[in-house]
Amino acid sequence: MGTTAPLTGPDFAAGIAASEAPSSGTLLGHANGEAVLLVRTKGGLVAIGATCTHYGASLATGHFDGETVRCPWHHAAFDVRSGEAVEGPGFNPLPCWTVDQADGKVRVTSKRASSAPKPVKGPSSVVILGGGAAGTSAAEELRRRGYEGTITLVDAEGELPVDRPNLSKDSLAGTSPEDWLWLHGQDFYDEQRVRRRTGRVRRIDVERQVVHLDGAGSLPYGALVLATGAAPIRPNLAGDGPPVFTLRSVTDMRAIIKALDGRKRVAVLGASFIGLEVASSLRHRGLEVHVIAPDAVPLGRVLGPQLGAAVRALHEKNGVVFHLGRKATARSARGVVLDDGSTVDAELIVAGVGVRPLVGLAQSAGLTTANGVLVDATMKTSDPHIWAVGDLARYPDPRGGGLVRVEHWAVAQNQGRTAARNLLGMNEPFRAVPFFWSQHADVTIGYVGHVERWDELVVEGDAAAFDCVVRFKVKGRTLAAATVNRDATALELHDAFSRE
Ligand SMILES: Cc1cc2nc3c(=O)[nH]c(=O)nc-3n(C[C@H](O)[C@H](O)[C@H](O)COP(=O)(O)OP(=O)(O)OC[C@H]3O[C@@H](n4cnc5c(N)ncnc54)[C@H](O)[C@@H]3O)c2cc1C
Ligand code: FES
Repeated sequence: MGTTAPLTGPDFAAGIAASEAPSSGTLLGHANGEAVLLVRTKGGLVAIGATCTHYGASLATGHFDGETVRCPWHHAAFDVRSGEAVEGPGFNPLPCWTVDQADGKVRVTSKRASSAPKPVKGPSSVVILGGGAAGTSAAEELRRRGYEGTITLVDAEGELPVDRPNLSKDSLAGTSPEDWLWLHGQDFYDEQRVRRRTGRVRRIDVERQVVHLDGAGSLPYGALVLATGAAPIRPNLAGDGPPVFTLRSVTDMRAIIKALDGRKRVAVLGASFIGLEVASSLRHRGLEVHVIAPDAVPLGRVLGPQLGAAVRALHEKNGVVFHLGRKATARSARGVVLDDGSTVDAELIVAGVGVRPLVGLAQSAGLTTANGVLVDATMKTSDPHIWAVGDLARYPDPRGGGLVRVEHWAVAQNQGRTAARNLLGMNEPFRAVPFFWSQHADVTIGYVGHVERWDELVVEGDAAAFDCVVRFKVKGRTLAAATVNRDATALELHDAFSRE
């Protein structure tokens, strides 16, 4: 998916002089038509694919910390010895090559075949509820670690697991092919022996270790992974008027696209990341888009006023009309009625006003919940056989921020992996630093770290020109940073936060 790293630099298959090999860090080249990174590790030279398996960024400008190389676009991290994606959003491993050193030359020779993991002991069976980022990565990690038992991935949607962030971006804009929607084809799940089952889980019987599906039987489990995510909040608007949509699933996205037919004006409720991405994508489709939100500055509470103002200006330049400082109160035949009595004409409403973690199943099963399912550092819930991951889980922030629930794609994936390892007895705390990205027209904003409130905000560079780092500090310590066009700094901060 995405781009392919260009074939530049030396031909490693033909060989380079040993003196040209990197004495530290990485060197981009190619071998037999593929972009390759030659990497100097403590143990010597290794060669891995130079193209990120997420959306195809070149890893040549990524950050190498001695063991992993981190992608400059969305911060996936790959182990340079095994090629494994150790942190999302990359799911698939990078290819690895054998490096030969003889006669003063370094040559990249054959591609190494990936070795099958050694079988490990684990629970009698694993049932995963929710085939999103967290659930899917838990299933993959179990197999990667050599778990041989039955894995059942239950999801309420009758679709293959989906690349959810793309639903508000290229997929909604209509600029990406249909097959970009899916994380993997069905053949992948067949190969991995992951049974996909469609159904809504109604109840968990923790005594008998059984989950009950709505009208579709029940499933016993040795270990259970709760990964049902969150559901969009539907705004409570009085009166009748244009249809209201939310966006979480492929079905939601298809329903919005279908409803656009013959309609020209859309009201987006909420100047959130999803609301603004929807606005951008629908502008791309040529619709007139009005964004209604109570905030004074879009995204100001997350990105700060300077970057928020720049995001607003970008969308305005792109034709979006903002109605800020206003709440939608009702629908009318004309559109959306605001709290000052005015009406924004619209034929369709898309609400992006936040999500609620789906804690109902956990609550009725007697698990401890509080704005999410409470887990310990290993992602285990109050029940010894149940782990909770992703948008649903509230976990102890390893950087001392208390209990947090983070709604990011890569966090959900990384937590799925941690839970998988821990239910196999590895007992590893979840330590991945949160990262998310958001796309607005041709501008990508990255955000590394996590902070809910800050007492100091420092802007380096020019936020209005989308060339900046915004640091969010508490008591002088940078807890998070938003970056635009500053990939190197974002990667350095990610690395620094990981070491704290
Ligand atoms: C449109 C959109 C754009 C986004 N863009 C970004 C972005 O750019 N960057 C970023 O970092 N994050 C983004 N996010 C957030 C990111 O997608 C979520 O953080 C992530 O999907 C959470 O993963 P999850 O596995 O916890 O939940 P989900 O991915 O929501 O998966 C949960 C699954 O559980 C299923 N389920 C729910 N209840 C039941 C039940 N009772 N029985 C069976 N199955 C059930 C659901 O059908 C769903 O498939 C975006 C989210 C949306 C909706
Ligand atoms: S392209 Fe590498 S993480 Fe997205």
